[in-house]
Amino acid sequence: MTNWTKVCAASDVPENELRKYDIGDIEVVVANYGGGFRVFPPFCPHMFEPLAVSGMLKDNVLTCGKHLWQWDLATGEKHGLSEKDMLFYDCKEDGGEIHADLSEQLTYDWEEEDELDDDDFFS
Ligand code: FES
Repeated sequence: MTNWTKVCAASDVPENELRKYDIGDIEVVVANYGGGFRVFPPFCPHMFEPLAVSGMLKDNVLTCGKHLWQWDLATGEKHGLSEKDMLFYDCKEDGGEIHADLSEQLTYDWEEEDELDDDDFFS
């Protein structure tokens, strides 16, 4: 059964913007991609990069500013350089509010080889 939790007002997240929220013990980012909203864990699937800080959203595409991996938020699919899928919470807009099913926290498994710093990545 879906367990809907209010995250924020839809008007709190302008189009093409990301906002981070702490809902109990769960941190989430809400993205308004124009055609709708997505709710997802706050870190990039590649490394431990906070997407609410370094993520850029334009034309449905979310780009992580660290290594430029991308995802299409309209379809939820990988885009461009991205090698990993994003995880999304089920969400809905209801009565001007964004609700998400936060009954199970979503997290990524980061691989050890992902511990490279920027100097390694660009060499
Ligand atoms: S940390 Fe986001 S693309 Fe590498």
